[in-house]
Amino acid sequence: MSDAVTPQTLRARGGLKWTGIDQDVLGAWVAEMDYGLAPSISAALHDAVDRADTAYFYPDIERRAANAATDYWLDELEWRVEADRVFPVPDVVEGIRRAITHLTEPDSPVVLHTPVYFPFFSMIERAHRELVELPSIRDDDGRYRLDLDGLDRAFEKGAGSIVLCNPWNPIGKSFSVEELGEVVAIADSHDARIISDEIHAPLSYEGTKHTPVASLAPETVVTVTSASKAWNLPGLKCGQIVLTNDGDAARWASYYTPDKVGVGTFGLIANAAAYEGGRSWLREVMTTLSGNRELLGELIHSLLPNVGYVEPDATYLAWLDFTSHGADDPAAHLVEKAGVALTGGGPFGAGGAGHARLNFATYPHILREVIERIAGAL
Ligand SMILES: Cc1ncc(COP(=O)(O)O)c(C=O)c1O
Repeated sequence: MSDAVTPQTLRARGGLKWTGIDQDVLGAWVAEMDYGLAPSISAALHDAVDRADTAYFYPDIERRAANAATDYWLDELEWRVEADRVFPVPDVVEGIRRAITHLTEPDSPVVLHTPVYFPFFSMIERAHRELVELPSIRDDDGRYRLDLDGLDRAFEKGAGSIVLCNPWNPIGKSFSVEELGEVVAIADSHDARIISDEIHAPLSYEGTKHTPVASLAPETVVTVTSASKAWNLPGLKCGQIVLTNDGDAARWASYYTPDKVGVGTFGLIANAAAYEGGRSWLREVMTTLSGNRELLGELIHSLLPNVGYVEPDATYLAWLDFTSHGADDPAAHLVEKAGVALTGGGPFGAGGAGHARLNFATYPHILREVIERIAGAL
């Protein structure tokens, strides 16, 4: 990871973050990292190409990916799951759609705590369900928490599930055991389900312990996750739906539906290699991200003193509050005036206007230029 890396070299690699924008713009938007591929994953994919392992995915590789995932969760999260409860899905967002469609009360509305990762909205729409938007509570120090009374009321009125984002994109918050316990208690009191997106869990910083909600309430929760965020594999299309509820697992295993296809063999190979052999690479990445997080805090403090920011517990995403600068859509202003692409806050739902999400999974000299350009344009 060196100063020799430039926006040009990153653009030459491909990916959406650097090629989906104009040449003179710096990419700090979509959640991709700039750190290449873990050697274990690269070797596994090269090996698959050499063996021409490009046909349909098959039980052996499916099992290997499930075993690798459960070993990883046990070692890193102290979460014990049987491998036969792990089923592949093409990606996390589609896994959430499938969970809503197949594993929640038919036709029941779905709760989202906003601001939240916006593709969830379209998945609820694609599942033909009503959305119940639950604006989160923001304390005076800028920190967010769930509106638990509102959640109770939403379930009381008939919502059948909540899609929980844990850790929480775009805020970067990891829920505490106590908060999760309260969500579970409320859901259980209404026989409601929790669908928990835990894709960012491996990206938790030192001092933060990620708690899988299913470790507290296996029967209440459906977990959807992937190695794709922490090891930068989203283009390979593979995630895991983890069915710790006996009925869910039996139901999923017992029937065939087109909703069980769409997973790529290379995605399974890469996920297995990430969970099995990618841990030391991820530790190095976390050291870099931790340094970037610190640098970002300093740069915001010195160059963007009126921009609100709370350091994330996990993720390489920073949720920036530009409301004191007056613009409703700061990302639109900044891409034009600063040549920096952030993700606009509006689509994240209630509370998103006047905000933007910054991806800091890059190199320190690029991060510095991103913030200097923003400062020059405000
Ligand atoms: C919380 C969250 N869930 C899901 C995804 C997308 O995952 P996938 O590409 O596997 O659908 C992202 C991507 O940034 C994310 O932040």
